[in-house]
Amino acid sequence: MSANQNLTWHDTVVTKELRREQNKHQSAVLFFTGLSGSGKSTIANAVSLKLHELGVQSYVLDGDNIRQGLNKGLGFNEEDRKENIRRIGEVSKLFVDSGQFAITAFISPFRSDRQMVRELLGEDEFIEVYVKCPINECEQRDPKGLYKKARSGEIPNFTGVSSPYEEPLHPEIVIDSYHDTPDVCAEKLVDYLVEKELISKKS
Ligand code: ADX
Repeated sequence: MSANQNLTWHDTVVTKELRREQNKHQSAVLFFTGLSGSGKSTIANAVSLKLHELGVQSYVLDGDNIRQGLNKGLGFNEEDRKENIRRIGEVSKLFVDSGQFAITAFISPFRSDRQMVRELLGEDEFIEVYVKCPINECEQRDPKGLYKKARSGEIPNFTGVSSPYEEPLHPEIVIDSYHDTPDVCAEKLVDYLVEKELISKKS
Protein backbone atom coordinates (compact mmCIF):
# COMPACT_ATOMS: atom_id res chain seq x y z
CA MET A 1 0.00 0.00 0.00
CA SER A 2 1.33 3.42 -0.93
CA ALA A 3 1.92 5.83 1.97
CA ASN A 4 -0.06 8.42 -0.01
CA GLN A 5 -3.27 6.48 0.58
CA ASN A 6 -3.33 7.68 4.18
CA LEU A 7 -3.16 11.36 3.32
CA THR A 8 -6.04 13.84 3.26
CA TRP A 9 -5.99 17.19 1.46
CA HIS A 10 -6.81 20.14 3.73
CA ASP A 11 -8.07 23.25 1.97
CA THR A 12 -6.53 26.41 3.38
CA VAL A 13 -8.82 28.92 5.09
CA VAL A 14 -7.04 31.93 3.58
CA THR A 15 -7.47 31.21 -0.11
CA LYS A 16 -5.54 32.24 -3.19
CA GLU A 17 -8.43 34.53 -4.11
CA LEU A 18 -8.34 36.29 -0.73
CA ARG A 19 -4.59 36.77 -1.00
CA ARG A 20 -4.88 38.17 -4.52
CA GLU A 21 -7.60 40.51 -3.40
CA GLN A 22 -5.46 41.78 -0.55
CA ASN A 23 -2.40 42.15 -2.81
CA LYS A 24 -4.44 43.93 -5.49
CA HIS A 25 -2.84 41.85 -8.22
CA GLN A 26 -3.10 38.37 -9.69
CA SER A 27 -0.50 35.65 -9.25
CA ALA A 28 1.24 33.42 -11.81
CA VAL A 29 4.50 31.77 -12.78
CA LEU A 30 6.84 33.48 -15.21
CA PHE A 31 8.54 30.30 -16.33
CA PHE A 32 11.78 31.29 -18.04
CA THR A 33 13.52 28.78 -20.28
CA GLY A 34 16.70 29.24 -22.31
CA LEU A 35 20.34 28.32 -22.65
CA SER A 36 22.94 28.83 -19.96
CA GLY A 37 24.28 32.37 -20.42
CA SER A 38 21.14 33.62 -22.19
CA GLY A 39 20.40 36.06 -19.36
CA LYS A 40 17.61 34.29 -17.48
CA SER A 41 18.80 35.12 -13.96
CA THR A 42 19.67 38.73 -14.79
CA ILE A 43 16.32 39.38 -16.46
CA ALA A 44 14.41 37.50 -13.74
CA ASN A 45 15.95 39.77 -11.11
CA ALA A 46 15.32 42.87 -13.19
CA VAL A 47 11.63 41.92 -13.49
CA SER A 48 11.44 41.20 -9.78
CA LEU A 49 12.85 44.65 -8.97
CA LYS A 50 10.40 46.39 -11.31
CA LEU A 51 7.51 44.47 -9.74
CA HIS A 52 8.75 45.34 -6.26
CA GLU A 53 8.76 49.02 -7.20
CA LEU A 54 5.16 48.65 -8.36
CA GLY A 55 4.16 47.03 -5.07
CA VAL A 56 3.75 43.60 -6.67
CA GLN A 57 4.88 40.53 -4.70
CA SER A 58 7.31 38.23 -6.52
CA TYR A 59 10.07 35.75 -5.79
CA VAL A 60 12.91 34.54 -8.03
CA LEU A 61 13.65 30.82 -8.08
CA ASP A 62 17.03 30.41 -9.76
CA GLY A 63 18.57 27.13 -10.96
CA ASP A 64 22.05 27.76 -9.63
CA ASN A 65 20.67 28.73 -6.19
CA ILE A 66 17.99 26.05 -5.86
CA ARG A 67 20.50 23.39 -6.86
CA GLN A 68 22.58 24.39 -3.82
CA GLY A 69 19.63 23.92 -1.46
CA LEU A 70 16.28 22.26 -2.14
CA ASN A 71 17.61 20.41 -5.18
CA LYS A 72 21.09 19.69 -3.89
CA GLY A 73 22.13 16.27 -5.09
CA LEU A 74 20.35 16.40 -8.44
CA GLY A 75 22.64 16.18 -11.47
CA PHE A 76 22.21 16.93 -15.15
CA ASN A 77 21.07 13.67 -16.68
CA GLU A 78 17.53 13.64 -18.12
CA GLU A 79 15.96 12.05 -15.07
CA ASP A 80 17.50 14.51 -12.61
CA ARG A 81 16.62 17.52 -14.76
CA LYS A 82 13.04 16.25 -14.88
CA GLU A 83 12.94 15.95 -11.08
CA ASN A 84 14.54 19.40 -10.79
CA ILE A 85 11.75 20.94 -12.87
CA ARG A 86 9.00 18.84 -11.25
CA ARG A 87 9.95 20.20 -7.82
CA ILE A 88 10.18 23.74 -9.18
CA GLY A 89 6.72 23.31 -10.67
CA GLU A 90 5.33 22.30 -7.28
CA VAL A 91 7.11 25.12 -5.46
CA SER A 92 5.92 27.64 -8.08
CA LYS A 93 2.38 26.42 -7.58
CA LEU A 94 2.69 27.18 -3.86
CA PHE A 95 3.90 30.69 -4.68
CA VAL A 96 0.93 31.20 -6.99
CA ASP A 97 -1.34 29.95 -4.23
CA SER A 98 0.28 32.45 -1.88
CA GLY A 99 -0.76 35.27 -4.23
CA GLN A 100 2.69 36.04 -5.64
CA PHE A 101 4.51 35.88 -8.94
CA ALA A 102 7.09 33.09 -9.07
CA ILE A 103 9.83 33.96 -11.54
CA THR A 104 11.72 30.78 -12.36
CA ALA A 105 15.12 30.85 -14.05
CA PHE A 106 15.99 27.30 -15.09
CA ILE A 107 17.31 26.04 -18.42
CA SER A 108 14.46 23.52 -18.45
CA PRO A 109 15.60 22.06 -21.78
CA PHE A 110 12.83 19.50 -22.29
CA ARG A 111 9.38 20.32 -23.70
CA SER A 112 7.75 17.49 -21.76
CA ASP A 113 9.01 18.88 -18.43
CA ARG A 114 7.70 22.36 -19.23
CA GLN A 115 4.37 20.85 -20.26
CA MET A 116 4.23 18.99 -16.94
CA VAL A 117 4.52 22.31 -15.06
CA ARG A 118 1.94 23.94 -17.35
CA GLU A 119 -0.52 21.19 -16.47
CA LEU A 120 0.01 21.71 -12.73
CA LEU A 121 -1.26 25.26 -12.98
CA GLY A 122 -4.41 27.06 -14.07
CA GLU A 123 -4.76 28.34 -17.62
CA ASP A 124 -3.67 31.92 -16.94
CA GLU A 125 -1.16 30.99 -14.27
CA PHE A 126 1.63 29.58 -16.44
CA ILE A 127 3.51 32.05 -18.61
CA GLU A 128 6.27 30.39 -20.58
CA VAL A 129 9.01 32.92 -21.30
CA TYR A 130 11.55 31.89 -23.91
CA VAL A 131 14.74 33.83 -23.29
CA LYS A 132 16.12 33.55 -26.78
CA CYS A 133 19.81 34.01 -27.49
CA PRO A 134 21.93 32.20 -30.12
CA ILE A 135 24.26 29.60 -28.66
CA ASN A 136 27.29 31.29 -30.25
CA GLU A 137 26.53 34.42 -28.27
CA CYS A 138 25.93 32.49 -25.01
CA GLU A 139 29.19 30.69 -25.59
CA GLN A 140 31.03 33.92 -26.25
CA ARG A 141 29.60 35.52 -23.10
CA ASP A 142 30.34 32.34 -21.08
CA PRO A 143 29.89 34.24 -17.78
CA LYS A 144 30.74 31.19 -15.65
CA GLY A 145 33.38 29.68 -17.96
CA LEU A 146 31.22 26.57 -18.32
CA TYR A 147 31.02 26.37 -22.14
CA LYS A 148 34.81 26.25 -22.22
CA LYS A 149 34.80 23.39 -19.74
CA ALA A 150 32.00 21.64 -21.65
CA ARG A 151 33.90 21.88 -24.95
CA SER A 152 36.99 20.42 -23.36
CA GLY A 153 34.92 17.51 -22.02
CA GLU A 154 35.35 18.53 -18.40
CA ILE A 155 31.55 18.95 -17.97
CA PRO A 156 29.41 16.20 -19.50
CA ASN A 157 25.76 16.61 -20.61
CA PHE A 158 26.11 20.35 -21.05
CA THR A 159 23.01 21.91 -22.60
CA GLY A 160 23.62 23.07 -26.17
CA VAL A 161 26.96 21.28 -26.36
CA SER A 162 26.48 17.65 -25.34
CA SER A 163 22.84 17.65 -24.23
CA PRO A 164 19.84 18.93 -26.23
CA TYR A 165 17.82 22.11 -25.79
CA GLU A 166 14.27 21.83 -27.11
CA GLU A 167 13.06 25.29 -28.13
CA PRO A 168 9.53 26.17 -26.99
CA LEU A 169 6.96 25.77 -29.78
CA HIS A 170 4.26 28.05 -28.35
CA PRO A 171 5.68 30.16 -25.53
CA GLU A 172 3.46 32.94 -24.19
CA ILE A 173 6.29 35.39 -24.81
CA VAL A 174 9.70 35.39 -26.52
CA ILE A 175 12.35 37.67 -25.07
CA ASP A 176 15.19 38.59 -27.42
CA SER A 177 18.12 38.78 -25.03
CA TYR A 178 20.57 38.94 -27.93
CA HIS A 179 19.41 42.32 -29.20
CA ASP A 180 17.64 43.80 -26.15
CA THR A 181 19.29 44.84 -22.89
CA PRO A 182 18.15 43.09 -19.67
CA ASP A 183 16.27 46.26 -18.70
CA VAL A 184 14.35 46.36 -21.99
CA CYS A 185 13.59 42.63 -21.70
CA ALA A 186 12.30 43.14 -18.15
CA GLU A 187 10.15 46.11 -19.19
CA LYS A 188 8.56 44.02 -21.98
CA LEU A 189 7.62 41.35 -19.45
CA VAL A 190 6.11 43.88 -17.06
CA ASP A 191 4.14 45.35 -19.98
CA TYR A 192 2.92 41.84 -20.84
CA LEU A 193 1.59 41.40 -17.29
CA VAL A 194 -0.19 44.76 -17.50
CA GLU A 195 -1.66 43.91 -20.92
CA LYS A 196 -2.99 40.61 -19.57
CA GLU A 197 -4.47 42.52 -16.59
CA LEU A 198 -2.47 40.45 -14.11
CA ILE A 199 -1.02 43.61 -12.58
CA SER A 200 -1.75 47.29 -12.79
CA LYS A 201 0.89 50.01 -12.98
CA LYS A 202 -1.46 52.31 -11.05
CA SER A 203 -1.96 50.13 -7.96
S1 ADX B 1 18.07 22.38 -15.81
O1 ADX B 1 18.50 21.89 -17.14
O2 ADX B 1 17.91 21.29 -14.85
O3 ADX B 1 16.88 23.23 -15.90
P1 ADX B 1 19.27 24.38 -14.17
O4 ADX B 1 18.73 25.65 -14.71
O5 ADX B 1 18.68 23.84 -12.91
O6 ADX B 1 19.29 23.28 -15.35
O7 ADX B 1 20.84 24.57 -13.89
C1 ADX B 1 21.64 25.12 -14.89
C2 ADX B 1 22.88 25.75 -14.30
O8 ADX B 1 23.72 24.74 -13.77
C3 ADX B 1 23.68 26.42 -15.39
O9 ADX B 1 23.40 27.80 -15.45
C4 ADX B 1 25.11 26.18 -15.01
O10 ADX B 1 25.57 27.21 -14.17
C5 ADX B 1 25.07 24.92 -14.18
N1 ADX B 1 25.46 23.66 -14.86
C6 ADX B 1 26.36 22.77 -14.37
N2 ADX B 1 26.45 21.69 -15.16
C7 ADX B 1 25.60 21.88 -16.20
C8 ADX B 1 25.23 21.10 -17.35
N3 ADX B 1 25.76 19.91 -17.59
N4 ADX B 1 24.32 21.61 -18.22
C9 ADX B 1 23.77 22.81 -17.99
N5 ADX B 1 24.07 23.60 -16.92
C10 ADX B 1 24.97 23.14 -16.02
